[in-house]
Amino acid sequence: MTDSLTVRDNRTGQEYEVPITDGTIKAADLGQIKGTGEDEPGLAVYDPGFVNTASCRSAVTYIDGDKGILEYRGYPIEQLAEHSNFMEVAYLLIHGSLPSKAEYDAWVHEITFHTFVHENVKSFMEGFRYDAHPMGMLMASVGALSTFYPDARNISDAENRHMQIVRMIAKMPTLGAWSFRHAQGKPFIYPDNDLSYTANFLSMLFKMSEKNFEADERLVRALDVLFILHADHEQNCSTNAVRSVGSSQVDPYSAVSAGVGALFGPLHGGANEAVLRMLRRIGGKENIPAFIEGVKNGNERLMGFGHRVYKNYDPRAKIIKKSAEDVFEVTGTNPLLDIALELEKIALEDEYFVKRKLYPNVDFYSGLIYEAFQFPPEMFTVLFAIGRTPGWLAQWLELVQDKEQKIARPKQIYTGDRTLDFVPASERWA
Ligand code: ACO
Repeated sequence: MTDSLTVRDNRTGQEYEVPITDGTIKAADLGQIKGTGEDEPGLAVYDPGFVNTASCRSAVTYIDGDKGILEYRGYPIEQLAEHSNFMEVAYLLIHGSLPSKAEYDAWVHEITFHTFVHENVKSFMEGFRYDAHPMGMLMASVGALSTFYPDARNISDAENRHMQIVRMIAKMPTLGAWSFRHAQGKPFIYPDNDLSYTANFLSMLFKMSEKNFEADERLVRALDVLFILHADHEQNCSTNAVRSVGSSQVDPYSAVSAGVGALFGPLHGGANEAVLRMLRRIGGKENIPAFIEGVKNGNERLMGFGHRVYKNYDPRAKIIKKSAEDVFEVTGTNPLLDIALELEKIALEDEYFVKRKLYPNVDFYSGLIYEAFQFPPEMFTVLFAIGRTPGWLAQWLELVQDKEQKIARPKQIYTGDRTLDFVPASERWA
């Protein structure tokens, strides 16, 4: 058996042999297949949404959706969530291997001492309307960092790349927290570099007049785990946006700002908010059977269930469920949790969901946790973005060093008019 594909073009009767590598064929290899017309272009693939197109080789994240497996750099997400922390996971994603003690300490030190932003960033953020969406503020302020660090354009220098990566991971919580405080009319809180990454973020979010803000350690840990769970998910919409924009060799702040924009969309980062709305609408366990009937009749969707890739329990949902219990121990339970647990139990036993392999995804429980922290729904996606930043940057780093990559420039199937004769306005409107 040879690793190739024989393609017979029934238009011409001609056969072509296309090599298969890593379970893929090169789309460019199809370009040799031409129809009968003289100037006819070679065959191309049509794949809106890239549902069956690999855009890169990547060694960052592995997913097996049928088995419910998610690994960062080969390490299962369950082990990282249980035994690691977000800073170490960020190091792992960026560097490709786990740090030694000295490497870890140096990494944490670097990130910690880049948490402050230029005072002009503060004035810039203060200029937003009082009701500006925090994701819009985050997207704009990450993009604005490119103007503060023009050296970031030198993406071919490894040391320079490292500097921007450190800056961005360090400053995202500051920008995220300030986006949150702005809408509340509260003063921006400067970073406290005596605190851990996640404890400092909570301080910048919630500190008022107290000298030091001390968050409950269980809450700090729960948020840290949520950051770990969101840190990367291979070629999703926002990562693809970062790679696509980064392929023009622009600076990484501009590329990540595009990723934040993609994540802002309701099809990507916004489903956990929809879960909360759904649970509120159901209102009580007694209303679940009628709701499930509505879902089965196709009247609505069970939000937080189903996934394009996972056809099994999303491994992140299992971990989040456990985190929810830890958080509620501190904050007191949310009555919506009882509805969610019962809904999950009923759905997992129902033939409709079993047959379609619909299981809870990462968003089924995350909104409940964020609400327990007293985050408004607009902040949910900001939290996602802070967690995803090391993943975006690891993917960007891989992209800029990958010799096979080119500027992202898809083809199109043109459906418009051709060769019309332009009639000047003076004649058309006469
Ligand atoms: N509730 C009810 N039925 C569902 C659901 C759901 N949540 N999800 C899928 N189905 C059904 C579909 O109606 C379809 O049934 P059919 O074969 O009888 O027509 C079948 O399951 C397959 O569904 P598709 O829509 O083809 O699956 P796809 O992979 O395109 O969609 C998606 C995945 C968008 C996540 C979908 O499951 C969904 O809308 N879920 C709810 C929203 C949600 O939770 N999104 C968060 C995803 S995680 C993330 O983005 C971070």
